[in-house]
This record gives sequence, structure tokens and C-alpha cells, in this order.
Amino acid sequence: MKKETQFSHISRPRIGITTPVNHNITKASTLLFNNSKDLYRSDVRGYGRHGSEIHDALAHAFNVLEDGVATTIFPSGLAACTIAILSLVKTGDHVLLTDSSYGPIKNFCMQFLLSLGIETELYNPRIGCDIEKQIKKSTKLIIMESPGSLSFEVQDVPAIVKVAKKNNIFTLIDNTWSAGLSFNPLNHGVDISCHAATKYFGGHSDIMCGVAISRTKEIAKKVKKTAKNLGNSISPDDVYGILRGFRTLITRFKQQEETSLYLATWLNKQSKVSRVIHPAHVSHPDHELWKRDFTGGGCIFSAVLKPCSENEVDKFIDRLELFGIGFSYGGYESLCINCDPQLVREKSDKLSGPLIRFACGLENLEDLKNDIEKSLLKLRLD
Ligand SMILES: Cc1ncc(COP(=O)(O)O)c(C=O)c1O
Repeated sequence: MKKETQFSHISRPRIGITTPVNHNITKASTLLFNNSKDLYRSDVRGYGRHGSEIHDALAHAFNVLEDGVATTIFPSGLAACTIAILSLVKTGDHVLLTDSSYGPIKNFCMQFLLSLGIETELYNPRIGCDIEKQIKKSTKLIIMESPGSLSFEVQDVPAIVKVAKKNNIFTLIDNTWSAGLSFNPLNHGVDISCHAATKYFGGHSDIMCGVAISRTKEIAKKVKKTAKNLGNSISPDDVYGILRGFRTLITRFKQQEETSLYLATWLNKQSKVSRVIHPAHVSHPDHELWKRDFTGGGCIFSAVLKPCSENEVDKFIDRLELFGIGFSYGGYESLCINCDPQLVREKSDKLSGPLIRFACGLENLEDLKNDIEKSLLKLRLD
């Protein structure tokens, strides 16, 4: 069965004489037991923090999406990544993290993990099998994100996983960009695939949520145990919203990926743009790798403008009428940010020139192009 069909039918309520199409939302912190003897049974859910039927339904949907054995749901994408990381490492361990990772994950590793006595070393996202050279006796985890945040380097995930397996090292990837639709890391042997479900799955820019999908039962047990110890919990209303987003995910994703490639292709030809960075565009340095491992694109890409002042970049963004100025992506509305103030790279290929990230929503692609064209016309280069 194709994913479009699955997403309409999976994780629906059990059929009765009449059945609502969608799950009821059970709002409960307290669950009442019929008798005292049952209070300490391990085979029943005894407290609101442990979720409800709709939590199970959403977890099942993510298992189907990426062929995972178990999914843990978190109140944000960042929590999904950080708690999944914590479940795999302990004091004295060494972690390898891609230099292209989402900034707050980098901060978590470099600062919080360090405070626990866990050292993180950055690696060039294009390192491939040469990652072996950075492995130490104490290396326990390799963290990937492909394509990388803001700069969109595509990683050779199969090569990195091969090295990790040979050296008995766990692997984790932030797979937010592909929504699990255009890339399946677990099928390449990655141990945990994390998503900021806040993005495509919410789809309407009104819910925070994250998930960690595990490849094996042993890994899933570690994630669930750590999440439980740290008091992880997410409201059923938010879980309901993410499951609703699942139903329309593929349709929205297809339109958004089409728009993003259309805009990138057009922008790449504009005289005030030095290049675009979109893995699905032929000009991308990792395009062949992307074609080998991915089946589609995403809704975000970056454009490098020809040299101009920061003030001109701000004015260019402020003039856009259809692109909101905001940090997320995957929602129905288009967004745009100036990346330069947050672009910190130590081990990656250098990026020069003002870097602007576009996140495409569901607006008509010609309207979006015209909006950018109008603002670009007024941009004054150095
Ligand atoms: C690649 C990536 N990973 C993780 C996150 C964090 O997700 P959340 O905002 O749900 O905490 C984001 C958010 O922008 C992201 O872009």
C-alpha cells in the first residue's frame, strides 16, 4: 500500500457500531482504577504523563512512516533530539556532531553535555567514510543532520553508518528536512531518526512537537527510559493536531517541494543572486549524493546574494509581502530569514555572502516569485 493510502487509514479509532473518523481526545492527569490491586500493574497505563490512546496512534503513524519499531513523542523537536542523545551517552563518552547541525542542538552538545563530562567534537558534514579518522576509543555516538541546517550539505549517511557499525557506535539523525517522506534513515541502519514534528507534521504553525523513531527494541527502550526519567509529557490536544497533519502531509509536502525547487531555479538565474543552495537543484555540490539517497526535496532552501550591506538584506526581507519573517518552516505560510547572524561554522566549507533562507508555504508559486522579484529589483548591491 502506498503512503498516501496508509496515511488516510492508519491510526484511526477501533471500529464500533458507529465510529468517529478521528480519535477522541482523552484529557486526564488522573486515571481512576476500579480496585486497589490494579494500582501497581505494569501492563496498564496508570497516570496521565504516560500518554493516552491518541499518543499510541501517533507513535504508530511515525513507525509506519519510517519503518521504526517504536516512537517516543516529545513536546518539541529540540527535546526529541536532546533526550534521544542523552539516552545513548554517559560521562566520559565522546560524541561526533556534524558542524551543519541545528544551532540549539550544537549548543546542547557543546555546553550541556560538556557539563556532564561528555565531550563533543564537530566534523565536516561532507566527511563521509573519513569520519573514521575522528573516532576515539570513547566515541559512543555520531549525530547527523542531512541536509544541514541553513547550509544544506548532504551527508553520506550510508558511509557514516558503515563506519559507526564497524566501531560499535550509535548513530542518530535529525531528519526534519525530509519529513521522512524523501529519506528513510532507519533503512540505512541509523539507530534513531528525530523530527521536529512542529514543522511539516503540524503544518499550520500552531503546535510544538518532536519525535524520536527507533530502529531496534533495545534503542527504543533506552529512549523511553530516559524520557520517563526526565518527566517527558505532551498534551493530547497537540498530539491530535500532529496526527491530523499526517492526513494531509503528502499533498502539502508535494506542493511545497515543487514551489521551493521552482523558486530556487528562478533565483539562481537572477543577476543579484550569486547562487542558490538547494540539494534538488543541479548546481548543488552534493546533488549526485542527494539523487542517490533521496526521493524528493523539501520546502526550504537558501540563496546567497551578491555582496551587499546587512541593511540592504534587512530591507530586502522587509519589502516581501508574502513571506513572513520567522524562524520555522513546513507550515502553510511562506517564511524568510537572514541567516548570517546565526551561521556559525568551524569545520564546514566556507559560505560567503549574505545568506537568506526561504521556507515555501502553500501560496501560488508565481505569486511568491513575483513578490521576491519586486523586492530584488530594489536591492542595492555594494
Ligand atoms: C532541523 C531542526 N531540528 C530541530 C528543530 C527544533 O524543533 P522545535 O522547534 O520543535 O524544538 C528545528 C527547529 O527549527 C530544526 O529546524
